Amino acid sequence: GIGYINGKFTNLDELVLPIDERGHQFGDGVYEVIRVYNGTPFMLDEHLDRLINSSKAIKLPITQTVEDFKNLILEAVDKSQLMDCNVYMQITRGIVTRNHLFPTVPVSITMTVRPAKLISQTTREKGETAIFHEDERWANCYIKSLNLLPNILAKQTAFEAGCYEAILVRDGYVTEASSSNVFIIKDGKVFTTPLSKQILPGITRMAVKNATNLLNIDFIDKNFTPEELLEADEVFVTSTTSEVLPIVKVDGKLIGTGKPGEVTNRIYQQFLKLI
Ligand code: PDD
Repeated sequence: GIGYINGKFTNLDELVLPIDERGHQFGDGVYEVIRVYNGTPFMLDEHLDRLINSSKAIKLPITQTVEDFKNLILEAVDKSQLMDCNVYMQITRGIVTRNHLFPTVPVSITMTVRPAKLISQTTREKGETAIFHEDERWANCYIKSLNLLPNILAKQTAFEAGCYEAILVRDGYVTEASSSNVFIIKDGKVFTTPLSKQILPGITRMAVKNATNLLNIDFIDKNFTPEELLEADEVFVTSTTSEVLPIVKVDGKLIGTGKPGEVTNRIYQQFLKLI
C-alpha cells in the first residue's frame, strides 16, 4: 500500500499527522472509501460528487476540483501498484492550534491505499447476521463525516453479540446500518430507505438501483419497520467494502429460509457485471 499526506506520497508506516489536526481533535472533516477493481476505481465520479457535497455541507474551503481529486487518486492507485484495493481519503479543516472556530489554513488531505479485504466465499454462501440498534446519530447522516462514534459503538455491540452489522432504527423505522445501507425483498420487489438527511446516499446503493433496473426488478424507496424487515423474504446490506451482502438472521430471528435469497444473489451477480 501507499500513503499520501498533503502533497507527499509516503510509506504507510510513515504517514504521520501533527496533534493539532482538526480531524484528530474535532473529527472536523469528511471522508470517502473507494473500491478499486482491477486497477480502476469503481464509480469514482459518484464518490467524488459525494465528497464535494459532504465538504460543502460542513463548509470546508476546498480549492481542489473534481479533476484534481481524480488525478490524485489515480496517481495514488498507480503508485501503490495494487490492482484490487481500497482508497481511503479524508479531508479536514487543517492543521492549526486547537480552537473551535474555523481556522484560515488550507484543508488537510490524506489518503491510504491498501489491499481490499475480501469477504470469503463461505460467508457469502452462508449469509451474515445482524442486530437492531437504536440510531443514536445526529441529524445530518447524509454527510460522510469523520464523526463515527455512534456507528462504531453500534458495530461493536453487534460484534459482541456475535453479529456482523447493527441495523439502526430511528423513530420506529430502519434507517441504515452502522456502515452500510439496508434493503429488504418482499414478493420479488426491493425496498430500501428513501434518501434523506437521515442516511448516507450509498454509492453501492446506487449501483444496486442500476442493477435492479437492468434485471427488471422493482426498486422502491420506502421506509420499513424492524417488524417488516423480519417478515421480509430476503434482507441484504450494501457498502463499498461488503458489496451486496445477504443478512440471514437479525436479533436471532431467521429471515425467510435463513439462507441467502435468490433475488439478492441475482442482484449481486448483476452488480459484479457493472464493475
Ligand atoms: N461506509 N451507510 C453508512 C453509515 C456508511 O458508513 C456506508 C459506507 C454506507 C455505504 O456507502 P457506500 O456504498 O458508498 O460505501 C452506508 C464505508 C465503507 C466505511 O465507513 O468504511
